[in-house]
Amino acid sequence: MGSVLVLRFLLVARMMGVVVPVFPPEAESAEKPSEHFLYQSKFDCLYLNGTERIRYIFRDIYDRQEFVRFDSDRGEFEAVTPLGEPIARDWNTRKDLLEDRRADVEGFCRHNYAIFEPFARSRQVQPKVKIAPSSYDSSSHNTLLICNVDGFWPSQIEIKWFRNGKEEDESRVFTTDLIRNGDWTFQMAVMLEAQPERGDVYACQVEHASFPEPVTVQWEPQSESARSKMWTGVAGIVLGLVFLAPGLVLYLKNKKGQRVISQPPGITLEADKINHQRQKP
Ligand SMILES: *[C@@H]1O[C@H](CO)[C@@H](O)[C@H](O)[C@H]1NC(C)=O
Repeated sequence: MGSVLVLRFLLVARMMGVVVPVFPPEAESAEKPSEHFLYQSKFDCLYLNGTERIRYIFRDIYDRQEFVRFDSDRGEFEAVTPLGEPIARDWNTRKDLLEDRRADVEGFCRHNYAIFEPFARSRQVQPKVKIAPSSYDSSSHNTLLICNVDGFWPSQIEIKWFRNGKEEDESRVFTTDLIRNGDWTFQMAVMLEAQPERGDVYACQVEHASFPEPVTVQWEPQSESARSKMWTGVAGIVLGLVFLAPGLVLYLKNKKGQRVISQPPGITLEADKINHQRQKP
């Protein structure tokens, strides 16, 4: 966490240095500022080959619209919208501002790379691996099996589908793009077009730097049918009880007159308990 704090401090310091220059009067009159406005500065460091080739772009943004920028490839300020034209002209006459921005490649981008790169290189977060069968088509027995792999770092990962221990052909496998979650983790899904048959075992295997050895999650079509059989059984029992209960009541009623219905033992007990509790206080 210490390294991140250093970076933040640096950002704040840089920003203050940039915001100091005042808008020239012509820019102020060009557009009346609204009551609420948003002023942003962005600093992009592009590491095109580690620190061998760094491109730095500084942007000033008013009301969500970038109006002036400094691109290290160009080496001076340039206007992005008419609002930025007088500003870029003014800032380009100021040696101190130009030198500050040109020095950012070293003092800001290269400096931060030395903080971030070791952090990013040593960071390891294990993914969660889940298999989700979707869109089961009972007529063709086609199932799309989705292997969701979420929350990993670094981005390098290998995800494979196996059927009965044999790797599935690439023509049946579809991979989503690597998704950046925005919290220093990635996710990815690999889909398999399958025709599962009873007894098949499907497996999604994930190799990642955070795992000492590949992790495998299995899926069996049987477990699905077994589950449906279980629910069929449960439904059967419930239905059976629904019909059995009135039958039993009728039978007992016929046999022993009113007794069973007017004084079921359970209810009497409950009522006793409630009365008892009410009297206590
Ligand atoms: C990246 O930099 C290394 C030197 O650190 C160089 O050998 C390599 O050719 C560069 N790669 C590209 C794609 O420019």
